[in-house]
Amino acid sequence: MNMYESFVKEGLFLLPAEMAHDLTHKSVNMLSKSELFLSKTSKKYQILDPSLHCKVAAMQYRNPIGNAAGFDKNCNMIDYCNAWGLGSYTIGTVTPLPQIGNPKPRMFRLEKDQAIINRMGFNNDGHIVVRERLINAYKRNPGLRHNPNRMMIGVSLGTNKTTIETGEISKIVYDYISGYKYFYRYVDYFRVGISSPNTKGLRALQTPKFLELLAKQIAKLEDFGFPLKPIQIKLSPDLTDEAFIEMVEYINNSPYFNGIVNSNTTITRDGLPGYSHQEIGSFGNGGLSGKMLYPRNLARLKLARKHTDKTIISVGGIDSPEKVAEVIAAGASACEIYTGFVYKGPELLPKSLKLLVKNEINKSEKFN
Ligand SMILES: Cc1cc2nc3c(=O)[nH]c(=O)nc-3n(C[C@H](O)[C@H](O)[C@H](O)COP(=O)(O)O)c2cc1C
Repeated sequence: MNMYESFVKEGLFLLPAEMAHDLTHKSVNMLSKSELFLSKTSKKYQILDPSLHCKVAAMQYRNPIGNAAGFDKNCNMIDYCNAWGLGSYTIGTVTPLPQIGNPKPRMFRLEKDQAIINRMGFNNDGHIVVRERLINAYKRNPGLRHNPNRMMIGVSLGTNKTTIETGEISKIVYDYISGYKYFYRYVDYFRVGISSPNTKGLRALQTPKFLELLAKQIAKLEDFGFPLKPIQIKLSPDLTDEAFIEMVEYINNSPYFNGIVNSNTTITRDGLPGYSHQEIGSFGNGGLSGKMLYPRNLARLKLARKHTDKTIISVGGIDSPEKVAEVIAAGASACEIYTGFVYKGPELLPKSLKLLVKNEINKSEKFN
């Protein structure tokens, strides 16, 4: 057991899940103001080894492990995450206007099965505040933008609940495009958030038709001084195989999108042996993440690889160095983790990177 598992986690897990999450963000944000804390963090965790470098959608990643979207919705932990040694850092999901999300409680730990159920509903501070925070981080710490060994920084874009409720597709497209323009100068890559189960109607946007509408607007922007940046589409594990393959093939053939993120949380409740049906029901609706997602993640990764040479970011239930190594070996360009970090703590990152170095398993150059 490491210090996180034996000490910090003990304390945090005494609190309700969202309170523990907020407390972690506040403490890390405050501690990160100290140069000493950041330099101690890098010394303790950061693994910089050239054999970990990989190309993802024409970007040079210092290693193939990032945080999954939702981990830092409002860009509060960027300095820490860079010092900790993530290869990529996805901010968000951010919507044009700030929104409070669904009523609390809306995040639950299912500790016996190392899982989380959440129905946050894209709670975030909105484009203006989050971009300002990112710009301030660059001013405070220019290395975040210019150090050759820095992590790649991206943003996951979403649409406001009030926009989707209008049912007007042009307005929904505009929410994503306004995020693309607004963050364009400040990030390396974009994610299109259309697979969260916690905003009613959102997942219906997972169609080639919707991506075509986005692509048209992105093409127009290209003509107006916004050369294309890497954009990946995050998909739901609840899509049928047919719908999944249709999206993967569309993205594979589109010049505007360079890959997928597989996957978001699931609304299914299989693979939770630690809880009775009644207990599971008592948590209510929401997306399930964590250990039980891993077999689906791996199966879908293998399926997607049969249909695309483009980027696949593997997400879902990755909670050990062996699983990191397995998804990379199975063809993931890189991977991302959320729930695994909650249960295993920051040590999971360096331990996984050390295994990749030892096994020389970082094959992601092949798929970018
Ligand atoms: C509390 C919580 C909030 C999340 N918020 C977002 C989000 O804002 N946008 C998004 O694309 N995914 C979000 N996710 C999904 C994760 O990015 C990830 O796809 C999912 O949790 C599976 O990975 P994991 O098993 O490593 O957690 C969230 C997940 C959790 C647990």
